Amino acid sequence: MARGGRLIAVGVSGLLVGLALNQAFVPQYESGILNGWVHNVYLVPPFVREAIRPQHIQYLDGTRHSGPQSSRAGIADHLAGGPKSARDLARATCTDSQLLFRLLRVAVNAGVFRVSKGASDDGSPLFANNALSDLMRTDHPGALHHGLQTTGIDSVASWQHLAASLRSGTVPFQAAYGQSLWEHLAAHPDQDVTFTRAMAVSEGGPALSIASQLDCSEFGTLVDVGGASGSLLADLLERHPHLHGILFDLPQVCERSKEAWAAHKAHLLNRTRITGGSFMEADSIPAVQTDRPAYLLRFILHDWETSSALAILKNVRQAILTSRHPQEATLIIVDQVLKDDFRWELPYKLLMDINMWTSVGGQERTLSEWQALLAEAGFGQPVVKATQGYNSIIKAKLQGAL
Ligand SMILES: C[S@@+](CC[C@H](N)C(=O)[O-])C[C@H]1O[C@@H](n2cnc3c(N)ncnc32)[C@H](O)[C@@H]1O
Repeated sequence: MARGGRLIAVGVSGLLVGLALNQAFVPQYESGILNGWVHNVYLVPPFVREAIRPQHIQYLDGTRHSGPQSSRAGIADHLAGGPKSARDLARATCTDSQLLFRLLRVAVNAGVFRVSKGASDDGSPLFANNALSDLMRTDHPGALHHGLQTTGIDSVASWQHLAASLRSGTVPFQAAYGQSLWEHLAAHPDQDVTFTRAMAVSEGGPALSIASQLDCSEFGTLVDVGGASGSLLADLLERHPHLHGILFDLPQVCERSKEAWAAHKAHLLNRTRITGGSFMEADSIPAVQTDRPAYLLRFILHDWETSSALAILKNVRQAILTSRHPQEATLIIVDQVLKDDFRWELPYKLLMDINMWTSVGGQERTLSEWQALLAEAGFGQPVVKATQGYNSIIKAKLQGAL
């Protein structure tokens, strides 16, 4: 079989396995599992993905026809109230009904949306949400809506530079856009907002949230380093009334967070400080002047290759050392821990590793890689706890601390 044919065959069989899993999980489905499954589909190389699942989901999700800045709801939202024909959906979304029908046809065929029983007045099929397209509703707690839009921001062009990156080492996103993802987001506030929203729902719903799995009873003040909108910090503060929080991220992200917290989380502001800076700069991460500090880095270190991850950890260590009670401080990392024997690893986790490479030049890490990184940054042996989702909670104290 020709190379292209083989790749498509691999892609299609992956899709079939995915669909089989999808069917198996539907009765008691966890949005996170489906979330991972969708990412499996989205993270495969574009030429395979385009053969099996065209970019059109983004189109269907309301992004392409209404523009990324539009707040117009997508198809999944329009189907939330019940089945509709392509003609009715087209009317509701100001799209061409023939073209929309053709897109819906391929989407149903690929497992997104379903055809409902019955027919419309003119005899055409009625489309309905299924478990997968439900995830694309903007009101779904594990919403993929924003995540799918970020896929549009960084994946497609970046993946095309993957093979060149094997030789040059240049981050594919950088090769595609001439700047890092972080610079690109800073220059495109609309995409930055989407990215931050995607982070807020990246766990796949409340059942899998880190907040429900992270015991904060032993902490006094928690610094969320690179905390984006602060959705996790807010959740932790709601669950632990004794806890104080510091939200730290890039200045432009913090400016937006300040406005959002003033509007929606004002009751938490007497226990929260929001402060901008860069974790790449020495002395930028805030020190804590109360007892039992905790420094949380969720989905931060996998964004960076080893030397940068080390620099961030050393800056966190410096912030701890300038805090009033450094010996009491706990470092908490939430990221994946890959199995040493990758043959038994979940495909999603390995694909996410490649996604980190293509988008930001980062990587997922095995336990021994985490141990080596932490030791070099001046932290002691980590304690690792797997979570209900794909990630682990890795806790460590300063080297030599009790
Ligand atoms: C993958 S997101 C994770 C966000 C959040 N921790 C979460 O779990 O949802 C990475 C975050 O790092 C922030 N970031 C990137 N570079 C940074 C820097 N130099 N200093 C501080 N934050 C930075 C981004 O703005 C973004 O919010």
